[in-house]
Amino acid sequence: MKKTIACISGPNLNLLGRRNKNIYGEKTLKEIEKMVRVQAAKNGFKTIFFQSNHEGALIDFIQKKTPTISGILINAGALSHYGYSLRDALIDSNLPIVSVHLSDINKRESFRRKDINKDISIKVISGYKEKSYIIGLKILINHLCKKI
Ligand code: DQA
Repeated sequence: MKKTIACISGPNLNLLGRRNKNIYGEKTLKEIEKMVRVQAAKNGFKTIFFQSNHEGALIDFIQKKTPTISGILINAGALSHYGYSLRDALIDSNLPIVSVHLSDINKRESFRRKDINKDISIKVISGYKEKSYIIGLKILINHLCKKI
């Protein structure tokens, strides 16, 4: 079994650490990615990381990497609410997906309350700031380990 997880972050997440810290937490994306890398390694998984502000670039990355990865941990940012071509790319990958959000999308503006990838994700984790990535990662790893 391939033991590589892709951790993908969408638009504006490159600004973490500078974006509204009350909502998104203090950590930069680099710091969060390091936490993910370390936790995955503890469980014997490699990680690859990608962030883009462009939906097409996220899709290109998913299409290119699909043959070499075993699962996707994704924070699609605002694309979580309306990015249907990204959703299609996730579906076409046929990979297990866990979606994460730093903020609690259910307690924010109404347009954020629906994650369009919910039904294609094993789970959506929302509201635990950077810990959402780790909680989501553990769920994804658990799922992958059951399949080995
Ligand atoms: C987010 C929530 C989205 O609504 C927002 O557009 C983001 C980040 C989160 O991590 O809380 O960019 O996905």
